[in-house]
Amino acid sequence: MKPIQVGLLGIGTVGSGTFNVLKRNQAEIKRRAGRGIEITMVADLDVARAQAVVGNDVKVVSDARAIIANPEIDIVIELIGGYGIARQLVLEAIAAGKHVVTANKALLAVHGTEIFAAASAKGVMVAFEAAVAGGIPIIKALREGLTANSIQWVAGIINGTTNFILSEMRDKGLDFDVVLKEAQRLGYAEADPTFDIEGVDAAHKATLMSAIAFGIPVQFDKAYVEGITKLGATDIKYAEQLGYRIKLLGIAKRRQADATNRTEGVELRVHPSLVPTKRLIANVEGAMNAVMVHGDAVGTTLYYGKGAGSEPTASAVIADLVDITRLHTVDPLNRVPHLAFQPHTLDQAMSELPVLPMGEVVTSYYLRLRVADQTGVLAKVTGIVAQAGISIDAVLQREADEVSSEGSVPQTDLIILTHDCVEATMNAAIAQMQALPTVLAPITRIRKEELA
Ligand code: HSE
Repeated sequence: MKPIQVGLLGIGTVGSGTFNVLKRNQAEIKRRAGRGIEITMVADLDVARAQAVVGNDVKVVSDARAIIANPEIDIVIELIGGYGIARQLVLEAIAAGKHVVTANKALLAVHGTEIFAAASAKGVMVAFEAAVAGGIPIIKALREGLTANSIQWVAGIINGTTNFILSEMRDKGLDFDVVLKEAQRLGYAEADPTFDIEGVDAAHKATLMSAIAFGIPVQFDKAYVEGITKLGATDIKYAEQLGYRIKLLGIAKRRQADATNRTEGVELRVHPSLVPTKRLIANVEGAMNAVMVHGDAVGTTLYYGKGAGSEPTASAVIADLVDITRLHTVDPLNRVPHLAFQPHTLDQAMSELPVLPMGEVVTSYYLRLRVADQTGVLAKVTGIVAQAGISIDAVLQREADEVSSEGSVPQTDLIILTHDCVEATMNAAIAQMQALPTVLAPITRIRKEELA
């Protein structure tokens, strides 16, 4: 049978990896897919560089639309990135009847509803294993391996750059700015690291996982996003003393309605979290990724591996190529659905389940207060917490490392761990504590996830 013909849009790090792995493992991949898979056309603005990567047997063009217009091409791989031209090209490829493989989490998290609807209408597949956690087959696991389960929550370290920075901060006791510069020097962080350090990249990935886990549309605009830029070495140290590590987690969690009339919905959030050191995920260090999934039948599962890089990400891109090669002759209504739930049964799925506002999220907290070291201060602070109906799990008092601008007053750090409470309640309690004249600096609040 004639090989499946693939056109590649953008041959940078991941594109080169995809080309090389596909070539190196072509015989084995053919046996798995039941048919050869060949990249026969590449589009890249730097034609000479692209030609040097793929050799002279592959046609290289500068105009991506030449690939989309080619009737011989069955699958288009989009590795351009971003929301602009990538969106147009993906929609045009779908309209031309091509299946699409993409690593573009930003595009799908923001424009996924439009793209998946266009693909379903046209009867083509859009596959995106490489968009979440690079080489870890987490999309496949959620969509297929765990399909028997009612997924309760997904929590992952899904950004390698920030995990590298946090690991270095903890190991070396350094502050964020210093480690970021070092990470940029070593190539772990981009020259413009905004999407990574502000949590946006992780939120794109968490958004995609929430859709697959719960059968809801992709809703990046509803995600709560907080990065790691405000974290200090002090909190990492105190967390460690209390038996926790601080990780940037992407969390998608199902919340059932309960006796206190809490709304049913999905929590979708990215923020630094204290995680018990005894959890395996707390020990995922450097640029590695890991995702925990809790299903009602299977319990808790953990997936670990490289979340970025040329060949790890290529591994995911090629898995999608093989899937599409196996499935493209199947009636579209009987294929594995893009987002795990069959779109034509959406009336029976949970498409209406709302993404909850952050104020309704239920979690536990680490608070650090720089206070005047005077009689009655601890009682006042804990009184506010008790009055709010928030239960305290642990309290630690430590001599302040450095004194704040109110230098003449003796100072101390109060660290409070709480049990679960509603975020809005905690916000109100923090505002009250902050107003106390004995609280000398802005209160640090970091959420805490037991992941049990
Ligand atoms: N920039 C991402 C990370 C990799 O640091 O994990 C691609 O999503």
